[in-house]
Amino acid sequence: MTAIPIARLTPLAWLRAGPLGVIWRSPRATTGAVIILLIAVLALLAPLISSYDPSSGAFTPWIKPGVGHLLGTTALGQDIFTQMLYGARLTLLIGIASGLISTAIGTALGLTAAYYGGRTGEVINTVTNIFLVLPGLPLLIIVSAFLRGGGVWAIILVISLTGWAWGARVLRSQALTLRNRDFIHAAVSTGESPARIIFKEMLPNLAGIIAANFFGTALYAVLSEAALSFIGIGDVSKVTWGTMLYWAQAKNALLQGAWWWVGAPGLGIAVLGMAFAFLNFGVDEISNPRSNHAGKATRVLRRKSVPKVVDAAGLPLMSIQHLDAGYVTPSGPVRAVRDVSLDVAPGEFLGLAGESGCGKSTLAFAATRLLDAPGAVFGGEARLAGQDLLSLTPEELRRTRWKDYSLVFQASMNILNPVIKVREQVYDAMQAHGVHDKTKLEARARELFELVGIRPDYLDAFPHQLSGGMKQRVVIAIALALEPKLVVMDEPTTALDVVVQRQILQEIDQVRRRLGISIIFITHDLSLLVEMSDRIAIMYAGEVVEEAPAQQIYTAPKHPYTQRLMTAFPPLSGARERREGIPGRPPSLAQEIVGCPFYERCAVHLPGTCDVKKPANVEVEPGHRVACFLQSPAVKPAVYQEEHDLASD
Ligand SMILES: Nc1ncnc2c1ncn2[C@@H]1O[C@H](COP(=O)(O)OP(=O)(O)OP(=O)(O)O)[C@@H](O)[C@H]1O
Ligand code: SF4
Ligand SMILES: [Mg+2]
Repeated sequence: MTAIPIARLTPLAWLRAGPLGVIWRSPRATTGAVIILLIAVLALLAPLISSYDPSSGAFTPWIKPGVGHLLGTTALGQDIFTQMLYGARLTLLIGIASGLISTAIGTALGLTAAYYGGRTGEVINTVTNIFLVLPGLPLLIIVSAFLRGGGVWAIILVISLTGWAWGARVLRSQALTLRNRDFIHAAVSTGESPARIIFKEMLPNLAGIIAANFFGTALYAVLSEAALSFIGIGDVSKVTWGTMLYWAQAKNALLQGAWWWVGAPGLGIAVLGMAFAFLNFGVDEISNPRSNHAGKATRVLRRKSVPKVVDAAGLPLMSIQHLDAGYVTPSGPVRAVRDVSLDVAPGEFLGLAGESGCGKSTLAFAATRLLDAPGAVFGGEARLAGQDLLSLTPEELRRTRWKDYSLVFQASMNILNPVIKVREQVYDAMQAHGVHDKTKLEARARELFELVGIRPDYLDAFPHQLSGGMKQRVVIAIALALEPKLVVMDEPTTALDVVVQRQILQEIDQVRRRLGISIIFITHDLSLLVEMSDRIAIMYAGEVVEEAPAQQIYTAPKHPYTQRLMTAFPPLSGARERREGIPGRPPSLAQEIVGCPFYERCAVHLPGTCDVKKPANVEVEPGHRVACFLQSPAVKPAVYQEEHDLASD
């Protein structure tokens, strides 16, 4: 197998590729970050840069900017440059702390509203909307009037409480989009807890938006503190750029011609605000489009070893009995699965074939309780190792899925969260079912990767570093992680090229034989199906019309539909010639079908019989069942020769 190397990253490349990389990819965000860093360094080094005390009025008042006092002095004789250095500390603290608290509140509420929806979502949404329509500054003034005297942290609290709503709104709408992604559905169905899904699956995908929110609220906090201080509501005993403005206007600095006293903190606030705004826009412009293309998904089941029809106790592993399933549509039900009965033995590889739209996927999903609305099971039974899957509670289902069975489908690779390392995602499925020992998790993950033909060092990769085939293998590894008894595979490799498909299938088969897993396998590739399967079931118009050992289906099909299907695909060996399709179309599954569903297309139909009665599904030879009047003991003698003529055509 061709291994795709994961590029070794230099520290600089790592920084660019990591979460902080978004700042370096945007010139605006970089400018903002550099300005803030500079201000922070100056603020931290204040005692080294200036030997003056920012509060002591030891100098002559109203000194103009000059050599002794770079930015002049205040009416109280304080050095303005020193005040700017020390004031930056609290101004930055207020900006960053308020930004963090508001962002945390907004993120928690936005994500909760999106994840849970329903009443919880509505209540959070209503509260958010109320905060959004309340005018910001008056609200700030009222709340801070109540908390007056509480110091800087009271200011931070007030700003945070009034500044979270916009972030919550944005987060909710982004998270709603994410909530419907395949990998989130996959996480839900593998039994991950809501908290884990929110924090581990959704949060990393929203990191850019959350970062942009943080910078936006930090900007709001810096401006709000300045506004509150300016009107005397802030803590004016502390030196911030806002309180400097307050004292400047209280002492009529501009009337005294001391423009520097107003200009310095005013410019400082403007520059800091601009830096936060740059970061906000820069991060937002990069992370928003990125959040639009996230993951893909997959699900897998498990199985057993060598084919036999029943286990030692004579029981099938999976037993589907009289299953009726389909879709509830505004124009009535679509009965995509009609009275299907099918058994899968422990360790058996059962192939499911049939034209597009005949109900293969619906059968697989309905029998494993994975059929999403508008899909529904109308009746029947599906038992796995004796357990009736159709009557399990959601909690029981959560425990059963992945542990007892799993599903891999064509788009399965989409269940991989693009921003979480492959290793963690392999661990997740096992952890959700109680395996927590790190040594065991790692050993099992490596073993699984080897099983499906991936070098274990790919555990360190992110999904985007892998090819489609590799991702599908990862999902298959995840599906095998808990050694389920059954793995349902619905065209798991159709999106991949033929060589990769075959490789993966061969590896799956080896795993099946080694672990004794049963597999239900759906594909349009009949040659692959005949090659891999122990037994094949042929579906037509929602019904299983024939089932038999794979070789028998290939060499001696009995149902006219199977016969046409087998002649419609190239032989397993010899020259590849162009084959005919089957003329006509299957009947609509939205209607009642009277008689044999293949009647309209069947060249050997029996008028007066096939169009008025439904042929029973009869075992014509051990392990070979057919639903066709030609195989019915009652009509067989009359048409036997005709049927054989058709088969030999
Ligand atoms: N959401 C839906 N609403 C209504 N009808 C649906 C829906 N999904 C599928 N169907 C119908 O159910 C029938 C069976 O579909 P299903 O996907 O199970 O077929 P399939 O054999 O898996 O086909 P394919 O080989 O193309 O995957 C089809 O006629 C299809 O049109
Ligand atoms: S039951 Fe009749 S119509 Fe149906 S496949 Fe058999 S011969 Fe053809
Ligand atoms: Mg399908």
